[in-house]
Amino acid sequence: MLDGHAMSAPEHNGKLYIETVGCQMNMLDSELVVAELRKQGFSLTSDVKDADTILFNTCSVRDHAEHKIYSQLGRLKFSKRARPNQVIGVMGCMAQKDQELIFNRAPHVDLVVGTGQLKEIPRLIDEARSERGRRMAVSLDRKEGSRAEVASSFESYDPARDPTMRPTPFQAFVRIMIGCDKFCTYCVVPMTRGPEQSRPPREIAHEVKLLAQQGVKEVTLLGQTVNSYKVTQDGKLFRLSDLLELIHDTAGILRLKFVTNYPRDMTDDLLQAVRDLPKVAQYLHVPAQSGCDEILKRMKRGYTVGEYREMHARIREKLPTAAVSSDFIVGMCGETDESYQKSLDLIRECRFKNSFIFKYSPRPGTKAIDLWDDDVPEEIKRRRNNEMLDLQNHISEEDNANLIGSTFEVLVEGISKSARKAQAAEALDDSFVPQNSEAEPAAGPTQLVGRTRCDRIVVFDGNPRLAGNLAEIAIHDCSATTLMGSIVTHESEHRSYSLPVVS
Ligand code: SAH
Ligand code: SF4
Ligand code: F3S
Repeated sequence: MLDGHAMSAPEHNGKLYIETVGCQMNMLDSELVVAELRKQGFSLTSDVKDADTILFNTCSVRDHAEHKIYSQLGRLKFSKRARPNQVIGVMGCMAQKDQELIFNRAPHVDLVVGTGQLKEIPRLIDEARSERGRRMAVSLDRKEGSRAEVASSFESYDPARDPTMRPTPFQAFVRIMIGCDKFCTYCVVPMTRGPEQSRPPREIAHEVKLLAQQGVKEVTLLGQTVNSYKVTQDGKLFRLSDLLELIHDTAGILRLKFVTNYPRDMTDDLLQAVRDLPKVAQYLHVPAQSGCDEILKRMKRGYTVGEYREMHARIREKLPTAAVSSDFIVGMCGETDESYQKSLDLIRECRFKNSFIFKYSPRPGTKAIDLWDDDVPEEIKRRRNNEMLDLQNHISEEDNANLIGSTFEVLVEGISKSARKAQAAEALDDSFVPQNSEAEPAAGPTQLVGRTRCDRIVVFDGNPRLAGNLAEIAIHDCSATTLMGSIVTHESEHRSYSLPVVS
C-alpha cells in the first residue's frame, strides 16, 4: 500500500511496469511519468506479472506499432481477472488517436491518456483503482477548436526527471518543442501531438543546467521539426541556433545534439552554430522521405528534390566532416518503380551516414488515406525496403572503411550490447543472475561502446569506468553500422588506458 496519494485506493503492491514504443519523445515522456510516479511511492518492475500498475506508452506512426500494443493488451485480459486491483493504462500517441476505440477493443483497459494530458496520470491511476470505472484524458482533436484552443489542450509535460529511465545515466533528452504543423499527408503526428509549440529558452536552459548538475554529459534536444524552433523572449527572437549558443557553456555538458530536422528549415545560422560551437555534434538527421518530386508533392513535404540537394550541398560546404542521415518511405501511394529509383539515386548522391527506411502505412486521420488508395502491394514495398537498406548499408560500409586509420574523440556510453550479453551468459553458467549487469562494472577491460561527434558508433576495449567520459579512439576496422577501434594510449601516462580527454 502506498502512502499519501494512494491512501483512499485499495491495497496494491506499488509495482509499476511500463513499456515504451515509438520515438525519443515517447522515451522522454515515459521517463517523466515514471519520475512522477516514483514520487508517489511506486517502484519499477521489469516483470509484467509482478505489477499492479501497467502502462503502455504507445506510437501510432505505423500500423505495426499499434498492432503490437493491441495484441499485448489482449494478453493481459486474463491477468486482470486474477488481479482485480490491477490498473492498465494506455498513454501516448495511440491514446490520443484512438481514444474510446481502445476501450472497445480492449475492455479491460482502465485508462486512456493522450500526449497532452500526462500530468493527470497519477491522479487517474488512483481514481481508477479506488472508484473502478474507466478514465480518459485526451486533448482536443485538431478540428474541435481554433488553433489556440487546441494548442492549449496539449500541455508540454516537463516535470521531474528520472535518471534510471535514460539511455544511460549521463545522456538525457530535453524537449524544446511539442507538436507539429507540417501536416505531411501520410503522417499522424500533427494529430497525436497537436499544434507546434516551442518552449521558452529560459526553461530549457534551466532544465539543461539541472541535468548537468545530476551528472548528465550529453543532451539531445527534441522536436518533431527541431530546427523550426522559434520563440520570442524578452523582445529577442530565439531560433535553434540561438538556443544552442545559450546552453552551450553549461558546466558539465560535453555534447549537444538535436533531432529531427525539417529540410526547409535548415538555415545557414544553424549550420554556422554547428560549425562554431565545439560541443554541438556534427550530425544532422534531415529526413528526405523520397527522391521524387511527384511523391514529395503528394507527401506535401514542402520542398523539391532539387531544393533538398541544394540544402545538402550547403551542409557539405559549411560542415565538410558532418554526418547526415535521413528517413525514407517506400511504397507511398502512387510510387512507381521510376519514382522509387529516384530515391535510390538520392541516397547514392548524398551518401547518408544511415537511413531509416519505412514501408508506407496508411494512417486513419491523415490526408493520404482519404485521397489515395494504398496501391503499392506489400510484396513490392518489402522488396523496395530491403533493396534500399542494402544500398544504404553498402554506402555506410564504404564510408566507414574510409575512416580506418583515423582517430576520433568518443563519448563512452558504457559496456557494448554484445559484451553485456556475454557477461549475462557467463553469469548464468555460474548459476548467478546479476540484478543489473551495469550496476557494478567489472574492473578489467571489456568491450565498450561510444559515439563520435558525428554520431558514429564505435566499439573498443576499455575499463567500464570510462563511461560518461570522452576518450580518443583509433579506428582499425568497421562494418556498415559500427567502427571498431582501440584507445589511444599516450606514452607519458604509464597505464593501459589513456585518461579521458575532457575538452
Ligand atoms: N518529425 C520527424 C519524423 C516523425 S515520424 C520528421 O518529420 O522528420 C518518423 C518517420 O516515420 C518519418 O520520418 C517517416 O519516414 C516515417 N513515417 C511517418 N508516417 C509514416 C507512415 N504513415 N508510413 C510509413 N512511415 C511513416
Ligand atoms: Fe510528421 Fe511531417 Fe510533422 Fe514530421 S514534419 S512529424 S513527418 S507531419
Ligand atoms: Fe510515434 Fe508519436 Fe513519436 S506517433 S513516432 S510516438 S510522436
